[in-house]
Amino acid sequence: MPKSPRRRLMILSLVSWKGGCGKTTSSIHLAALLAARGSTMLVDEDRSRNASNWAARGEGHLPFKAYPPRALGSEARKHEHIVVDTRGGLEDQDLIDLYDNSTLVIVPAVAESMTLEALVNTVNTLKKHDRALDKLRVLFTMARRTTGKTDKVAEGKAAVSELGIHTLATTIRATEAFKDACDAGRLVKDTKNPLGKLAWLDYERAFKELNI
Ligand SMILES: Nc1ncnc2c1ncn2[C@@H]1O[C@H](COP(=O)(O)OP(=O)(O)OP(=O)(O)O)[C@@H](O)[C@H]1O
Ligand SMILES: [Mg+2]
Repeated sequence: MPKSPRRRLMILSLVSWKGGCGKTTSSIHLAALLAARGSTMLVDEDRSRNASNWAARGEGHLPFKAYPPRALGSEARKHEHIVVDTRGGLEDQDLIDLYDNSTLVIVPAVAESMTLEALVNTVNTLKKHDRALDKLRVLFTMARRTTGKTDKVAEGKAAVSELGIHTLATTIRATEAFKDACDAGRLVKDTKNPLGKLAWLDYERAFKELNI
């Protein structure tokens, strides 16, 4: 009997030189969106275990499970898609290994000057190891509504484009609903915060833009 064609395995990795810019929050929400397409596992590469603890608090409310890296060998073959949440500031070789093994590498970024410095570090490491930048996608997170004339996210996007990296047009808004979601072990759309549904739409749009 002919074997049924194996579906394409998506590996999305969330990476950033800088800490606290939305890697774990984005991992959780992108994993949920991938899980709607096919069985998905989240690999929690961060020793602080934020993603694993988020999933554990929800006691099964999330549509995927989080695993430590050592489970990859036995679990990966049971899933169609993998999302990898990493710690900030990976060693060069860890970044390269992850880059080579990922379908896309998503870099959550907050619009501030340190973001650009951190991105330059990542880009330089990839270039130093002769990697093209085509798998990188910068996702601006925690965006506040602009008051006055300066639009920091627009400025940040322009600066990232100059580095030759693809930036998603979609930006994830800043809302306390993400903290509520984390505390409750749920997705942002399943919190009591009315902004949660809008914040979920942001991740839905960003996911569509990944075009995978
Ligand atoms: N869009 C957002 N709006 C408001 N707060 C957010 C948003 N995304 C994440 N946060 C909050 O910002 C903090 C950092 O987010 P998160 O843990 O996802 O970042 P991280 O890059 O994984 O951090 P670390 O480097 O420590 O692993 C958390 O308290 C989280 O709830
Ligand atoms: Mg994290």
